[in-house]
Amino acid sequence: MINIGLLGLGTVGSGVVEILESRKEKISSLIGEEINIKKILVKNVNKKRDIHLNKDIIISNFEEILNDHTISLVVEVTSDIEQSYEYVKLALNNGKSVVTANKALVSKYFEELSALAEEKNVSFLYEASVGGGIPIIKPLKEELILNSVDKVQGILNGTCNYILTRMFNEGLDYDEVLKKAQELGYAEMDPAADVEGPDTLRKLRILGSLALQGKVGEEDIILEGIEKITSFDVRQIKLMKSTVKLIGEVKEYEDGYSALVMPTIVKDGSYFASVNMAFNSVTFEGDNIGELKFYGSGAGKFPTGDAVLRDILDIALDFDRKQNPLGHRILKNNNSEIKDKYYLRISESKENILKSVEDISEKILSTKDNIAILTNEVEIKEIMDIISSLDIEKDEYFIARILD
Ligand SMILES: NC(=O)c1ccc[n+]([C@@H]2O[C@H](COP(=O)([O-])OP(=O)(O)OC[C@H]3O[C@@H](n4cnc5c(N)ncnc54)[C@H](OP(=O)(O)O)[C@@H]3O)[C@@H](O)[C@H]2O)c1
Repeated sequence: MINIGLLGLGTVGSGVVEILESRKEKISSLIGEEINIKKILVKNVNKKRDIHLNKDIIISNFEEILNDHTISLVVEVTSDIEQSYEYVKLALNNGKSVVTANKALVSKYFEELSALAEEKNVSFLYEASVGGGIPIIKPLKEELILNSVDKVQGILNGTCNYILTRMFNEGLDYDEVLKKAQELGYAEMDPAADVEGPDTLRKLRILGSLALQGKVGEEDIILEGIEKITSFDVRQIKLMKSTVKLIGEVKEYEDGYSALVMPTIVKDGSYFASVNMAFNSVTFEGDNIGELKFYGSGAGKFPTGDAVLRDILDIALDFDRKQNPLGHRILKNNNSEIKDKYYLRISESKENILKSVEDISEKILSTKDNIAILTNEVEIKEIMDIISSLDIEKDEYFIARILD
């Protein structure tokens, strides 16, 4: 019997428990023994839970998992970063393998935890941390043995994609769709981590570091969220027969790499334009394999629980090589030198603003109420310098990169 210590019994944790229960026989016949959740650590043991379980296994003291020598695998699906970091480190140090869905934890401590797992000859797997139910981490790691991967792109946040899809397809206002997303449970009451982009940034940091085989840190990624998009922008961009997606991209060039998370204008009919509502997609390019596209549910109890269980099965079947998948390349960040075309809207129409953006304008779309332009190919730094030189608030502009 393989005993698991589960940390967290929220959306993902209960998905793991329920899938494991419903597929018990299939799993046992595949691996030749039973997978058993022996203890479940939660924050509040007295919370009423809508799940059929022996209450005695729900605990609040991690030591009961750590010191149980029959538990060889810790599955971390809490929403906590620092406390979980301590638990995961202790588990790895004690020779227990770890599976996690916690992208904030993986992103913050990626190098350290990956190295520790290798040192202790145990597994550290995190398939569910990027793209929810989409198998992406494992295929990427496998292709990295045969390929150099120099580009990863993705729509990595379902909340943002849901908001943008409904704004473009139904003409709804940002606030209206955000409220609907919150009512449906797609968005948190505090939506900042989704709409301002940190959630996408963390997933890109994980994918980018694996792909480029060197550290792409959170601080190395340019970040713009979708929270400032207005119906005015939607109308302008629809006239371009295009739509907007929040896309994370890491790309390697001969002399460095760029990494950014930005609202991105994609042509109607293009691949990314077809990824709608709460779906996610990741694409990567390898020198042998060419471009691969992955599409599916980026979140949710069962898709995410399924991804966690795939990692558990890989460990149970001893499929994981237990080798640190991160490389040691020293990467040169080239963000400031990357040139693209952009859509820029400033919600004020003043003579001095128009003058300041004139030099970078390829086309002026509007000067009434809002100034909206399409830029020629410029460095993002140049636009950001112009924006900071204007006397405007952070929420008074919206910028989107134009993808060919
Ligand atoms: N939800 C998704 O679709 C999804 C998708 C991909 C990745 N993830 C990631 O998966 C993780 C879990 O997400 P979730 O949606 O399941 O979260 P959730 O519903 O908020 O559940 C979190 C669980 O963790 C427990 N917990 C929180 N802090 C703890 C601590 N310090 N010690 C012990 N237990 C603690 C909570 O205990 P109580 O029950 O007592 O409050 C709860 O059971 C997160 O890191 C999230 O980013 C989620």
